[in-house]
Amino acid sequence: MVPAMDEGVGAYSDRVVAALLGYAELAGIVLGDELGWYAALAEAGSAGVTPAGLAAGTGTQERYAREWLEQQSVAGFVAVVQDVAGADAGQVRHAGPRFALPPGAAEVLLQPDSLAGLMPMVRMLRAGVAQLPELLQAYRHGGGVGWAQIGSEARESQAAGNKPWFEQRLGSALASVPDIHGVLSRQGAHITDLGAGCGWSTLALANAYPGAAVVGIDIDGPSIEEARSNARRSGLEGRATFRIADAADPGAADAVAPGSQDAVFIFEALHDMPFPVQVLASVRAMVKPDGVVVVMDEAVADAFGPDGDELERLMYAYSLFICLPDSLSTPGSAGTGTVMRQPVLERYAAEAGFPSVERLPIEGFSDFRFYRLHL
Ligand SMILES: C[S@@+](CC[C@H](N)C(=O)[O-])C[C@H]1O[C@@H](n2cnc3c(N)ncnc32)[C@H](O)[C@@H]1O
Repeated sequence: MVPAMDEGVGAYSDRVVAALLGYAELAGIVLGDELGWYAALAEAGSAGVTPAGLAAGTGTQERYAREWLEQQSVAGFVAVVQDVAGADAGQVRHAGPRFALPPGAAEVLLQPDSLAGLMPMVRMLRAGVAQLPELLQAYRHGGGVGWAQIGSEARESQAAGNKPWFEQRLGSALASVPDIHGVLSRQGAHITDLGAGCGWSTLALANAYPGAAVVGIDIDGPSIEEARSNARRSGLEGRATFRIADAADPGAADAVAPGSQDAVFIFEALHDMPFPVQVLASVRAMVKPDGVVVVMDEAVADAFGPDGDELERLMYAYSLFICLPDSLSTPGSAGTGTVMRQPVLERYAAEAGFPSVERLPIEGFSDFRFYRLHL
């Protein structure tokens, strides 16, 4: 007889098994992404593919392809479309099932312009987890693992994850707040985008406000190189320019003259910056008295609680593997982490001399919240 499991042990075990399944199945998604298997399934359409067909079409091994397809179907990521049985010299021969992507899968896994796309988030987490040996060192002895070290996969997946939102929704989101829209619409407006990464927010601002000149600034050289080539490809080179500078240093690279900016934005980057108060103080110095300052960051709860929702759970995971170690890689860092709650931002803003922070009425913009820092 199997002994009855203690109720607490059983529930805890179920919770860990759920986590184990999540980790294991995410690793399976990484395989499908890397090997081009999802793309091949999408190409095959509803007719689906056999393991042999998938392997042949992608230059991979049939036995692994079969195992993966079966794993994906039991995990619910791939559908079994057909189980072909045929007669061969009087014997029943099973050609085996064909597999296809179920409805919705291609949009979530493969379409870079979809607001429902999740592959960049998968790749980002994977990039962080890949740094585990260095992360363990930092967790034990201090320091961190910087953005440059986490590497191109994190940089590219960060850019890819936010790009559709900036391209498709940023203009309308800002237009929905009349006084901000009014400032941005000034003829000849100067706009700065700090922590611009690969520049998609900068380019979206330049597109939405044709009378404005927009400068994207980032401390990461490869991001700025990528941003410049994105600007060239978008035909916005003239109005969207990019510079490498530390946002915490107002004089760095003569990036922005004091009192010159109509608007300054920081999109999902303040929590990564080691010195957020200095950054906001330099923002305050660069903006005109009648300008606007907007920070977009994760829409987390106002206070920590063990009953945090899925967004909190996810943001803490990115914090463990990416944002916190990135921030702590600079000595003396504030060590904010991904879960930057409104009271934390209010404290940083107050220390930088902003009298108040307002939550803007922009809803449904991915998992982000927009704050206006009043001058
Ligand atoms: C999470 S990424 C966000 C990039 C972009 N805003 C987006 O939404 O995709 C954070 C960015 O902040 C930049 N960053 C971090 N510290 C910085 C600093 N002190 N000055 C300028 N940029 C900084 C990083 O290099 C990185 O590109």
